Amino acid sequence: MSDTKYRVAIIGCGRMGQHYAEAYTTYPDTEIISIADANTERRVVLGARFGVDALYADVEALLHGTVPDIAVVVTPTQYMKDVVIACAEAGVKGISTEKPIAARLQDADAMVDACTERGVVFAGGNLQRAMNEVQEAASRLHNGEFGDIKGASVHGFGGEISGGGCQHISVLRLFTNAEVEEIVAWGTPPEALIAETDEGLIINGHFRLTNGLECSVFGAPTPCRGVDVWTDECLVRWDWNPPEIFKGYDPHGNRIRFDPNYSPYPWHEFSYLTGSIRSFLAAVDGNGHPWITGADLRQALEVAIAAKLSATRNSAPVKLPLEDRSLTLYPRPYRWLGGDATGSPQSLEEAKS
Ligand SMILES: NC(=O)c1ccc[n+]([C@@H]2O[C@H](COP(=O)([O-])OP(=O)(O)OC[C@H]3O[C@@H](n4cnc5c(N)ncnc54)[C@H](O)[C@@H]3O)[C@@H](O)[C@H]2O)c1
Repeated sequence: MSDTKYRVAIIGCGRMGQHYAEAYTTYPDTEIISIADANTERRVVLGARFGVDALYADVEALLHGTVPDIAVVVTPTQYMKDVVIACAEAGVKGISTEKPIAARLQDADAMVDACTERGVVFAGGNLQRAMNEVQEAASRLHNGEFGDIKGASVHGFGGEISGGGCQHISVLRLFTNAEVEEIVAWGTPPEALIAETDEGLIINGHFRLTNGLECSVFGAPTPCRGVDVWTDECLVRWDWNPPEIFKGYDPHGNRIRFDPNYSPYPWHEFSYLTGSIRSFLAAVDGNGHPWITGADLRQALEVAIAAKLSATRNSAPVKLPLEDRSLTLYPRPYRWLGGDATGSPQSLEEAKS
């Protein structure tokens, strides 16, 4: 851990933003210096809860005050592009965002480019890819402990392929150390296939990866709901928890569960937000990369858009990267617009605790 005490601003401090604020007030090397939130009453409650006096209605006002070292962007997705770019232009050293990063591919590109051009570390938020145990399983896979990867599959890729499916895509890319380069997909129900949002769309299909792996994609739980990767002897199964590992077979041919004995880590009370934030801060300090980046979220959006495109084209193969960067897939309204605008606001009582 560095000796620096990072000055952190939270921009968008609703349900998810408050989890970040809890973590950033707990870590010894971070201090929340300002909060921007569009909801006036909630803002006041949050200032008292987190001991922050510098409270602003929007990112412009916040950046006119003190420019923070770290900007934590947890607004509804619709506002993320403008907020991320404003922070990058203002000279913030590290910016984290949330899922989904955008609806339109070129908006995600603009965010990634704005950070890359200025040398700003751009992290991706609260994703299971950043869970310590997921990262450890991936390192052990890549170190050859389980043998050469022979296959991969995605399970339960449905319901919201952009808003939630980015979890699957991010873990798949990590475990296989490869990109998705071609997609053939089938989508149901028909009304979800023609909708503008990803709500209720179930995608079955297969992904071809840049390392030659063919990955089956199951829209419904099988009953697994995550990502499987296997070698001749082992299976690594991420199913929304620390990955399970199976090694070898019993005399009946059943895989045998193996205790991975994952390393303990501090601040596990914040679950995988800890891996996300700690790797982000290390990267700002010059050590490595965030375990989930803004670029990872952009890739996940691209895969979701390509999968839907293939399904709407009668399962025509779609190659990535997509040439048409104007392609768009909206998340469900809550993610795009936030709770206040979609009839499920967080109460002040809830925001107090
Ligand atoms: N990674 C995860 O597991 C996870 C879980 C939940 C939500 N999310 C994502 O986090 C984002 C926020 O979700 P939430 O549940 O916290 O929503 P929320 O509605 O509870 O909170 C959003 C907050 O942002 C504020 N806000 C709105 N527009 C703003 C603006 N332009 N500038 C500053 N503040 C603004 C609102 O006043 C509100 O307090 C969404 O994109 C959602 O998809 C991710």
